[in-house]
Amino acid sequence: MIRVLVTGAGGQVGRELLLAFNSTSELFDVVGLTSADLDVGDRTLVQSAIEGLRPDVVVNSAAMTAVDQCELEPDRAFRINALAVRNLVEACDRYGSQLVQISTDYVFDGETSVPYVEWDRTNPQSVYGRSKLGGERELRPSDLCVRTAWVVGRFGSNMAKTVMRLGSGTGALRFVTDQIGSPTVASDLARAIVELVLSRSRGVFHLTSSGSGSWFDFAQLVVTAMGEDRSRVLPILTQDLPAERRASRPKYSVLDNVAWRLSGFEALPQWSDAVPRLIRELAEGGL
Ligand SMILES: NC(=O)c1ccc[n+]([C@@H]2O[C@H](COP(=O)([O-])OP(=O)(O)OC[C@H]3O[C@@H](n4cnc5c(N)ncnc54)[C@H](OP(=O)(O)O)[C@@H]3O)[C@@H](O)[C@H]2O)c1
Repeated sequence: MIRVLVTGAGGQVGRELLLAFNSTSELFDVVGLTSADLDVGDRTLVQSAIEGLRPDVVVNSAAMTAVDQCELEPDRAFRINALAVRNLVEACDRYGSQLVQISTDYVFDGETSVPYVEWDRTNPQSVYGRSKLGGERELRPSDLCVRTAWVVGRFGSNMAKTVMRLGSGTGALRFVTDQIGSPTVASDLARAIVELVLSRSRGVFHLTSSGSGSWFDFAQLVVTAMGEDRSRVLPILTQDLPAERRASRPKYSVLDNVAWRLSGFEALPQWSDAVPRLIRELAEGGL
C-alpha cells in the first residue's frame, strides 16, 4: 500500500484527487486534509501532520488560486504558494516522503505561439505566477511537479460553471479571443496524477487536455453542450475586460505534455470532448 496525504483536499483538484486515489483503494491508503484541517503555511503544523501520518507521498493541491486577489495580497500568496512548499519539503525530507506539487501555466509569460515544454524558460508576469514558481523552486530533484492549466470540474467554482450560469440566462456572453490555452477537466488531471505516483515519476510534467482554444471557443462549446444558441457568445479582447482584473494573464499558455508523452502515457482527452462530458454531468447533477 502507498500511503498518500492530499493537502488542500477541499479544493476542486483536491476533491478529485481523493476520489481518484480512492478508486484504486487496493493500492493506496489516502488521507485528505482541507485548509481547516491543516494550514500548509504553518511550518509547525505541517511538521506534526507529516510526522503523525508518515505518508509515502504528499500531494499538495493547496494554493491561493484567486489570481487577482494575489496582486492585492502578495504576502498571503507567497505564504500559501511558495513558503508552504518549503514547509512541506522540509517535513517530507525528514520523514522520507515524496512531494507532488501542482503548478501552473502562469509561470510562463505567454509571449509565444508554440506550446511550452517542461524545460522552457519561466517568466511569470503576475504575483500568482511568481509565487507558484517560488513553490516549484523549493522542490527536490526526487519530487514531482505537475503543471496544469485552465482547470474546470465538478467541484468548487470554475469557468465551466460560470459559463453555464451565464448561459442559462438570456443575455449575451462576452469572452476573450486573445487568451489561448487548454481547458483541463479536473477528474482527468487527478487520474493522470495517480498514474504518475504509481509509476514513481519525478521531475516536471505538463498535464493538460489535448488541443487548445480561446476562452471564447470554450464558452461557445459550453453553450452548445447546454443546447443553447452559441451565437449568444460574443468575442472581445483582453483589453476590453473590466479594470478589476488586475493580474496579467498569459496570452498563449498551451503546455506541451512532452514528458508525459515520451514516458509512454496516453494523451489526456481532447478538451473539445472532455468539456461537453463535464457539462452533461454538471447539468444532470445540478450546479
Ligand atoms: N484552477 C486552475 O485553473 C488551475 C490552473 C493551473 C494550476 N492550478 C493549480 O492546481 C492546484 C489546485 O487548484 P484548484 O483549482 O483545486 O484550486 P482551489 O479549488 O482554489 O483549491 C485550492 C485549495 O487550497 C486550499 N487552501 C488555501 N490556502 C490554504 C492553506 N494555507 N492551507 C491549506 N489549504 C489551503 C483552499 O481552501 P479554502 O477554499 O478553504 O481557502 C482550497 O480548498 C493549485 O496548486 C493551483 O495553483 C489550478
